[in-house]
Amino acid sequence: MPAVEIKPGVYWVGVNDRTTDLFEGLWPITKEGISYNSYLIDDQKKAIIDLTKSFKADEFFNQINEVTDISKIDYIVMNHMEPDHSGLIRTFRKINPQSTILCSDKTKEMLASFFDIKENIQVVNDEETISLGKMTLKFFSTPFLHWPETIMTYETTHRILFSCDAFGSYGAIRGAIFDDECEDFDFYQQEALRYYVNIVAIYSQRVLSAIEKLADVPLDVIAPSHGLIWRKKIPTIVNLYKKWAEFATGKTEPGITLIYGSMYGNTEMMMNAVAQGISRAGVHLEIFDAARTHVSYILSSLWTKAGVMIGAPTYEVSLFPPVTEVLNMAVHKRILNKKVAVFGSYGWSGGAQRHLQKIIEPLRWEMMDNFEFMGSPTREELKKGEEFGTKFAELIKKAD
Ligand code: FEO
Repeated sequence: MPAVEIKPGVYWVGVNDRTTDLFEGLWPITKEGISYNSYLIDDQKKAIIDLTKSFKADEFFNQINEVTDISKIDYIVMNHMEPDHSGLIRTFRKINPQSTILCSDKTKEMLASFFDIKENIQVVNDEETISLGKMTLKFFSTPFLHWPETIMTYETTHRILFSCDAFGSYGAIRGAIFDDECEDFDFYQQEALRYYVNIVAIYSQRVLSAIEKLADVPLDVIAPSHGLIWRKKIPTIVNLYKKWAEFATGKTEPGITLIYGSMYGNTEMMMNAVAQGISRAGVHLEIFDAARTHVSYILSSLWTKAGVMIGAPTYEVSLFPPVTEVLNMAVHKRILNKKVAVFGSYGWSGGAQRHLQKIIEPLRWEMMDNFEFMGSPTREELKKGEEFGTKFAELIKKAD
């Protein structure tokens, strides 16, 4: 894409990535893609804010050259050192060795360890300002959004917050770069939530602190490093972020995440009965086959919903491994304070539910109900499963 002027003298110069399958080597983006947004400020002094992954260097540098010669850029603002924002730094510095990197003291250390870059680095402190001429950059320390070294940069004249990972999303730019020109808002909102839960959610307390810290900063534009640029829906994305961060404090929204796995269809048969029971109670339900759905997509539902229903057979005297993997990631991401119920089939000895209790122990989930059945469920057992679903759904409704 060509450079896009977002305010006079301020340009988006990002690149779309539609060929990487796993973001951070872990989270699937094959269908969605992602953008690495970089921003160029063309003033008396010229600054580029964040770079991109080491990827599509020609496209990236050509965009910059549409606006100004790379060798004339004075500052590289490095909000966040993760290589999806910094991957082209060595190439950039080869073209323009005189440019000064503006960053936090922690970024300075990391630049040495990641890229062996030690020269022309200027550490900026919280709320420090640097004039570019007509425009001024102000830096805010926002640790752990997403790494400990992270800062955000605010341009005071046009009131633009360059927020880096915060308020960003998976999803390549589909032509429209601004929220108010985008017809796919629901897609970006869902992908912003998935990005939040996959990448940022473990630091939710830091998110709430940053939102509070920046509450009085006037904003005309939020320009994140991934996804849409926000200018009409700033309150929407900020409030969503606040809501998502508050889920870490025990808040939830109504609904049940049903995670199941099935070897020969017996637990799946019961899952359908349980789902019927839940739906009958009028509670929103999201169903995931753990063996066929990447945990990245399941986490968004787990993070937000009040209830978790787990259906899994016993496998070698323990929980069916694909369901175990999802729960292990829930432990890793500290998805706390849920109400949970569990069901599943066993062949000759149980063991799944004992194993499950052990896995979820650190999560402080409240076990509301459970049952197991041998082999294929009977008509009576399916009836029981339906009632089991309705009873759990009613409990979730009461908890709202
Ligand atoms: Fe977009 Fe923390 O990387």
